[in-house]
Amino acid sequence: MKFFIDTANLDQIKEAQDLGILDGVTTNPSLMAKEGITGKNNILQHYKDICEIVDGDVSAEVIATDYENMVKEGGELASLNNQIVVKLPMIKDGVKAAKYFSNKGIKTNVTLVFSAGQALLAAKAGANYVSPFLGRLDDISTDGLNLISEIRDIYDNYDFKTEILAASIRHTMHIIDCAKIGADVITSPLSSITGLLKHPLTDIGLDKFLKDHKKGN
Ligand code: G3P
Repeated sequence: MKFFIDTANLDQIKEAQDLGILDGVTTNPSLMAKEGITGKNNILQHYKDICEIVDGDVSAEVIATDYENMVKEGGELASLNNQIVVKLPMIKDGVKAAKYFSNKGIKTNVTLVFSAGQALLAAKAGANYVSPFLGRLDDISTDGLNLISEIRDIYDNYDFKTEILAASIRHTMHIIDCAKIGADVITSPLSSITGLLKHPLTDIGLDKFLKDHKKGN
């Protein structure tokens, strides 16, 4: 299972990279804006900076919503670094653009996926990643994990190579449940990744070991 971090914050990306468990980064226009990264040149430079920190795939989302401009913008993003994965919205032109990039050997991540049918189309278009938004479904009283499970079944039935990238992760249990279902990748805020470290019995046990060691010396 791959671990991606879902942020454009360079310090958090560095912290996850330093932990030694990071396989990649996902961003979106909201995450870029949250870091105050605006204007085309600054945004492109920020993607380059992220690629300097990590070794793996870095999803960079297009702003265009029509096929021609998606292809143009995606091509520009892909030319920044071979780690860049062009992130495309799950709309008709996004599916067409995914097929275009797939034919060119450029990696894609189809995002804003909320149904099994959408995930099926993304796989048919040859997307490398499909991003179902777990937390946002949970937010509207719909079982996000059930969607991940449905997509897993469908992809396994036909041996689709598209990787399920569980997005909109909100807490540690989402990560654990995604691992049980067999999601290929989770993309998560740093807090949910580091949350996996925590167990009170680990802290109590370590404290006792260190105290006993001190007594014996
Ligand atoms: O990057 C896409 C996704 O992970 C967004 O998550 O928390 O805004 O629903 P969230």
